[in-house]
Amino acid sequence: MSPVISLDGVKKSFWPGPVEAVSDVSLEVREGEILTLLGPSGCGKTTTLRLIAGFEAPDTGTIRVRGRTVAGGGSWVPPEKRGVGMVFQDYALFPHLTVGENVMFGLDGIPRKARKERARLVLETLDLAPLLDRYPHELSGGQQQRVALARAIAPEPVVVLMDEPFSNLDAHLRESVRDEVVATIRRAGVTCVFVSHDQRDALAISDRVAVMNQGRIEQLGTPREIYKHPESVFVATFVGRTNLLQGFVKNDHGCVQTDCGAFCRVEGSGLPEGTPVMVSVRPDAFEASEEGVLHGRILSTKYTGAHVEAEIEVRTDSGEGCRRLVVHLPPTRAYVPGEDLTFRIVSEFASVVRNACQTLGFSPLSASAPSEETAAAG
Ligand SMILES: Nc1ncnc2c1ncn2[C@@H]1O[C@H](COP(=O)(O)OP(=O)(O)OP(=O)(O)O)[C@@H](O)[C@H]1O
Ligand SMILES: [Mg+2]
Repeated sequence: MSPVISLDGVKKSFWPGPVEAVSDVSLEVREGEILTLLGPSGCGKTTTLRLIAGFEAPDTGTIRVRGRTVAGGGSWVPPEKRGVGMVFQDYALFPHLTVGENVMFGLDGIPRKARKERARLVLETLDLAPLLDRYPHELSGGQQQRVALARAIAPEPVVVLMDEPFSNLDAHLRESVRDEVVATIRRAGVTCVFVSHDQRDALAISDRVAVMNQGRIEQLGTPREIYKHPESVFVATFVGRTNLLQGFVKNDHGCVQTDCGAFCRVEGSGLPEGTPVMVSVRPDAFEASEEGVLHGRILSTKYTGAHVEAEIEVRTDSGEGCRRLVVHLPPTRAYVPGEDLTFRIVSEFASVVRNACQTLGFSPLSASAPSEETAAAG
């Protein structure tokens, strides 16, 4: 099936500067998916969204909506004719209009009776029908958020774009509103592009995540792929915590020798013997066990509820130095700084960082593609 939205080699700079906000973005959004643009402040997320919506024009490249070129190659389709709905970070509801009137606002061009009916239907879908006659200032943040979504989906757009939609909400309200809004989007089968700088939101709600850095997409994949197989140092460190270890491929069973020991069946390590690689080992990959090969001493601990995040100092193989690693330990017991522990590498969270290998002196093209097979090491 053809993508709902496609961007091909899109660039956008702002003057004076120039500030290259979007450097070279190619991206396809599929029918019915939730795709999140994730990245730090200033990396070009909002600009990408505004380019899709038609509030900005690309310098080069093309943007298509359902196969129709809406920008680039001499074409230009204005925002209101693209069939794209947008929910802004501050909701941008009209304060002098009621909830019902806000939702009807985007339904120009159809008879008033049909507009009313459509608005009522959408508000019911989002459990907002009782609020029909209220004004925005009489609503909670979460309710305003849903009204903004209702207004965006009422004209039945081909895609809804949402810029940091949850960042205005209290921490305790945030997750429940987020899950509610996403459930509504899923029920309605709406294709949606979110923008977020919060990796937890992005991993939790998306079918696919595009991790952006300095105007480029560094990696595009499912939340699982992004977390388990980060392809660059930026993605490895921006999406969750990790330990980056340098080493080299030891034999053809996918083992990597690092100064913290040999890790076996590492994802993406099917490379010639001796190839220098960088391995990302998530804190979840360690398990305290007497049978382990890693010996370390706890330096500090942080209790998070779900686990204890501990910084440990591991003796290197040569015995000459130490490395600091971040590991997640079960919260079922207390750990004290100074305590010695032995670890096994048990889980699937060790992966070769393909694009870091360039700096280590080989082409990532020779790296095997990550598979779903999990890594385990000892
Ligand atoms: N209208 C503009 N004029 C000049 N520079 C701009 C304009 N809009 C954005 N920029 C610059 O382009 C870059 C990308 O901005 P953008 O708003 O897309 O970032 P973002 O990823 O959405 O960041 P945030 O998470 O802070 O919202 C930034 O350096 C920003 O300062
Ligand atoms: Mg932004």
